[in-house]
Parts: sequence; structure tokens; C-alpha cells
Amino acid sequence: MLQGKKILIGISGSIAAYKTILLVRILIKQGAEVKVIMTPAAADFVSPLVLETLSKNKVVIGLADGAQWSNHVMLGRWADLFVIAPASCNTLAKMAQGLCDNLLLAVYLSATCPVMIAPAMDEDMWRHPATQKNIQLLGEYGNHLMTVAHGELASGLIGEGRMAEPEDILVCILETFFRGTALQGKKVMITAGPTYEAIDPVRFIGNHSSGKMGFALAEAMYLQGADVTLITGPTHEKIQFRGINIQKVVSAAEMFAACEALFPETDIAIMSAAVADFSPSVVAAEKIKKQSAALSISLSPTNDILKYIGTRKTQKQYVVGFALETENEKANALSKLKSKNADCIVLNSLRDEAAGFGVNTNKVTILDKSGEEWVTALKSKKAIAEDIVSFIISHLHAE
Ligand code: CTP
Repeated sequence: MLQGKKILIGISGSIAAYKTILLVRILIKQGAEVKVIMTPAAADFVSPLVLETLSKNKVVIGLADGAQWSNHVMLGRWADLFVIAPASCNTLAKMAQGLCDNLLLAVYLSATCPVMIAPAMDEDMWRHPATQKNIQLLGEYGNHLMTVAHGELASGLIGEGRMAEPEDILVCILETFFRGTALQGKKVMITAGPTYEAIDPVRFIGNHSSGKMGFALAEAMYLQGADVTLITGPTHEKIQFRGINIQKVVSAAEMFAACEALFPETDIAIMSAAVADFSPSVVAAEKIKKQSAALSISLSPTNDILKYIGTRKTQKQYVVGFALETENEKANALSKLKSKNADCIVLNSLRDEAAGFGVNTNKVTILDKSGEEWVTALKSKKAIAEDIVSFIISHLHAE
């Protein structure tokens, strides 16, 4: 997602500087080009050598390096984003006042790219009115400020002031500065996870779906600029990006009601949920007691949500179905594509090793209504989601 993006990291003097080492590593793993500048105080907390090795770029600290002047103006122009993490109380105050007694501050004042700030300090310093005023000023200047976390501080006290975790900084960087535009303005509805069909107040009929694929799709669509609503059955998965709307449902009937309400406003619908096909005809009001005779539960069919929206979709709406098969995979998937009137169907075979329920990897075949067939390699569900999104983007415009 950050392939080719240039990110400048500024580190000031704070214990939290150790976390920035990890931040540099994960930014590099995302494909970003990273350069690091440090205040002289920061070099007391973390070694420039480590940062230089990880970033594969020389770390700059002073305005002059030997006989050479460090060109702060060009550093600020080189970057697509300048992230100051950690920003100590002292550095924040100087930034707010426009002071310029080190290279980091000179780059900040001359930067033409967006600036993101992750403060770190002890709670009492954080709560001081002078700090709060500086934070407010820095926000007014157009900087993006990350909130501090609550937890154990370097002083040993517990409170507010911890620098955000590197993974959270990465999520914020992706969400705030580097979302794509291919799906900008498109409203996307995604179903995910299993549904639970109540038998009595204690028991239900469910399935093994983890929701991982649907959640990965929601994030991949969102990172391409879409306005995403994820309608999910019970799952342990969490969405990283704050901008994704989540509607939690439990049963097939609740999922149907949520989709029915949202579909008229939807441009693209992706139905990746493992919706129960049957639901107990009657839900016992009290817990069913153990009995010696065999127990039969009468089941009634649920609404087929994909079929419902497939038969109502307009020319402008694009509908993606999923098919999970254990035999005659392609024939079954093609028959679902047709009977449910989807634009394409993503086929998962439970016969593919390391694909399917619960695992982090998957391998799929996308079958298009025009007869096109696209097979992916075995990859992480995140990478598969990106492939499916690319397929949707290229086929949307072919409509
Ligand atoms: N689906 C749905 N509503 C249902 C059942 C399925 O929207 N009540 C959707 C799934 O989200 C998926 C597609 O239909 O996109 C195919 O689901 P799958 O379980 O593979 O097929 P079924 O139609 O349920 O058929 P079968 O269980 O017989 O394979």
C-alpha cells in the first residue's frame, strides 16, 4: 500500500523513541522509502546506527554534517509525509512557537508535505495547559495529531501520555494520507462471518466462518477510496480503520434486513458471509431440557440474500457472490452465479489445502458472468482481498 511513498520520520528525545525503530521497519515492509532525522537528544535514547540500517538511508541529526550542510528544505520537499514520532513536550512547544534550533525543527518549518505528530510524555506534562495549548495550535496549523494512549509511562506512573503504538500509527498513516481513489464516491456493502440461528436462549446453529475474508475485503475496498459498510455476523475479527461503518447482526434474518435496507443506496455489494440456509422454525422460549428420546428440530429456509439483491440490482449496481464448495466446484459456482444473477462469483474450494475456514491464507477462482475465469495463487487473505478488489475495479469500468 505504501509502495514508492516517501516518508520522513522525525524523532525527538523521549523514551518512546524505541517504538519508532519498529515503525521504520513496518513502513519499509509496506514498501515505503524512509529517511530519518533525529534531534541531538533523541540520539541519547536510540542508536542512529539501528535506524540507518533499517531505513537504508543516512540518519541526519545536525544542520551540518562535517563540512556539509544538511539541506532541510529539500528534505521537507522530498517527503510525501513527515511523521514526528515521538514528539516530546519540548519539541511540541518549539514547533508551536516556530523555534528552529535543530534540524528536525528546521525541516518541520520548511516542510511542504503533510505533517503527522505522535506526542509522547508524562501525564502531568501532557495535561499542563501550556502543552494543551500547543497541541491546539499545532492542530490549527494543519498538522495531523495522533491521540496519546493510556498506560504505563516511563516514570512508572499509569496515565495518559504514551506514544501511539507503531501499528496504530501505520493504520492512521494509511487511512489519513494514502487511500487510493479508484473507488472514490462508491458505496460498498459487504457481508461477512457466519450467522447464528437460535434454537433456544442458550444454543444456536452456526458454522465455521471466521469472517477474515470479508473483513480483509472491507479494508481493501476502503483503501481504494470506497465508502464501506460491513454487515457482519458474530466474529472475533476487528476492523483497523475507523472510517469503515460496521453493522453487527446475529441471525440470517437480521443480515437480510440490514442488506435489504442498504442495498438501494449501494453501488457494489460483496456477499462473503456464510449465511445459514436454514433456521429453527420455532425458537424455544426456555432452555430445552435433556431427554432420553431423540430430539428433532424443525428447520425452515432463510431468505437467500444474494439472490434477493441479485434479482433487484440495476444496471449501475455490481454484485459479487461467493461460493464455498467441496465437490463439482466450478459447475456449482457457475450455477450459483446464474441463479443468483451476480456479476461475478468468487469460488473457494475446501479441497485446496491452507484455504478456507479460520486460516489466514486462501486461494480463489473468480468466475465472471461473461465467462472469464481468474485463478489466484495461494496467498494471505489480505492479498486475495486486494486481488478481488482489483478484479472488481477493472470490471466495473467494463460494465
Ligand atoms: N448467500 C446469501 N444468503 C443465504 C445463503 C447464501 O446471501 N441465505 C450467499 C453467500 O453469502 C454467498 C452465496 O450466497 O455469496 C453462496 O453461498 P453458499 O453457501 O456457497 O451457497 P448456497 O446458495 O447456500 O448453496 P449450498 O449451501 O447449497 O451450496
